[in-house]
Amino acid sequence: MPHLTINGVPLEFTKGQSIIDVALQGGIEIPHYCYHPGLSVPANCRICLAEISQPNPKSGQLEKIPKLMPTCHTPAAEGMVVTTESPKAVANQKAVMEFLLINHPVDCAVCDQAGECHLQDYSYEYGRSHSRFQEDKIKNPKKDVGEHVLLYSDRCIMCTRCVRFTKEVTQTHELMVEGRGGTEMIDVFPGKGLDNELSGNVVDLCPVGALLDKDFLFQQRVWFLKKTPSIDGITASGDNISVEHNEGTVYRVKPRTNLEVNQWWITDEVRYGWKFVHSEQRLTMPVVRGKPAFDREDPSEAWQTSLARAVEVLQAGARSGRLAALISPMLSCEDAFLLGRFVLGLDPSAVLGVGPVPRSGQDRTLAGGFTIHAEKAPNARGVRRVLEALAASQPARKMPAGAAHVTDAEGFVAALTTAGAGTVLVTGNYPSAWVTEPMGAALATRRLVLIDTLPTRLNSHAEVLLPSATWIEKAGCFENARGRLQSFERAILPIDFAKSEAQIALELGARAGQSVDDAFDAARTRTQMAQVKGLEAFVSQVCHPPVAAGRASDMVTADL
Ligand code: SF4
Ligand code: FES
Repeated sequence: MPHLTINGVPLEFTKGQSIIDVALQGGIEIPHYCYHPGLSVPANCRICLAEISQPNPKSGQLEKIPKLMPTCHTPAAEGMVVTTESPKAVANQKAVMEFLLINHPVDCAVCDQAGECHLQDYSYEYGRSHSRFQEDKIKNPKKDVGEHVLLYSDRCIMCTRCVRFTKEVTQTHELMVEGRGGTEMIDVFPGKGLDNELSGNVVDLCPVGALLDKDFLFQQRVWFLKKTPSIDGITASGDNISVEHNEGTVYRVKPRTNLEVNQWWITDEVRYGWKFVHSEQRLTMPVVRGKPAFDREDPSEAWQTSLARAVEVLQAGARSGRLAALISPMLSCEDAFLLGRFVLGLDPSAVLGVGPVPRSGQDRTLAGGFTIHAEKAPNARGVRRVLEALAASQPARKMPAGAAHVTDAEGFVAALTTAGAGTVLVTGNYPSAWVTEPMGAALATRRLVLIDTLPTRLNSHAEVLLPSATWIEKAGCFENARGRLQSFERAILPIDFAKSEAQIALELGARAGQSVDDAFDAARTRTQMAQVKGLEAFVSQVCHPPVAAGRASDMVTADL
């Protein structure tokens, strides 16, 4: 492999990589504003300039290029020696910082970007500690540019990342540069706001606090937020996300870079679709039909009573005929495994179905390669894979000739009648209404144990209602539309007295006398899953989020 040296560190590269690509890959910081690996390279901010020497092709002697060169626009070449630490390169960095801050309002105290702003970071690392600018600053307006985005033009450094995003990735062209020189500004075309399914990404792309998320505006200082790696729990995309939260409340969801799945982006649907997690409608306390509401002061008693009743109902159903279970595609593979194992432990021939899989339109792949999936459930494939393997592993299972072990939601309604199943364990966990007309009619006439997060028309029919946790409140893994298994971590504790479906399954199993773990652990459950024929992938093929490299602060804290 060819190699070059950047700031004294020898690095290998592949042909076609730019110097900044090689540096960032090798853990060497080169300041940059306009450069983004997912966009074209205009080389307009000029802060990444470096002094470069390269071997003369004839003599082989190192020769210095007289001008500073943009590392974002200069391809790496064999034997190059690059430095961003020479007096000339450092003088350029200081000059660029001074220039960018001339008209900047320096309103960090009230800026949402403070704490994750490249202008702040680079001022500290590469700028001057004082301003020589005495004149009046140009003041530019704040603008409402779209459903989710505000533009504070004063803070813009004209890197044009946002403009290139709407031109190259979404190809919707809403943003543009208006004017020239000192009066140029980012703007939308008259009467045409920033309105595309990926619009929130411009906020992430903006290296300063010029483009702001209306939803997050003044909600939290970013240094209070903890980031938990997660996976899109709304659609079948499997987009890699980071859930940002503080003291049990989620404040925002951001994309995590994964070039094999979502690149650097997420849809607005995924970015804002988590709001149901904190809905006031959330089911947070078990309910047993015919009993008064449980005392919120004693959730343990509420759970013990409800679990006991649920097991009674399900065991009676298994004794008197066929049991059925509808497992939602919103659940994790681990939830599905433990619920499936519990139900098959009561009735090895139980009717098993995957809950309704919502769809909207058709899959669409944008010019930049990003796909928006029509399927609005994160784990239909994973739930089906797990239930089929579990059912196939039951030696005592009796199925009519040619019948599938696991049906879809429509087939499930028909199978309830065919199999004469009078008692059903139903799981929901959808962000919005999900009970179809035929499903509601079929379930209303049967004994129900319902595990769900939000109220539906089934609540009044359920003999026992157990409140469950959304994917943000638990760990597990999903299989996305392309068959990729990806794990996610728990970001916040379950709201109020809700529990994950996996934990509920274990507690139901223990009450029914099954041999189960006391507490749910996602990794341990995947090891147990891999013992079942057909589920070996849950140990060998699950993609886990990369372990975050901790970065120690280089600020010196002074005691006052
Ligand atoms: S609004 Fe942000 S992303 Fe757009 S040009 Fe200005 S600084 Fe760059
Ligand atoms: S990052 Fe190279 S010129 Fe902007």
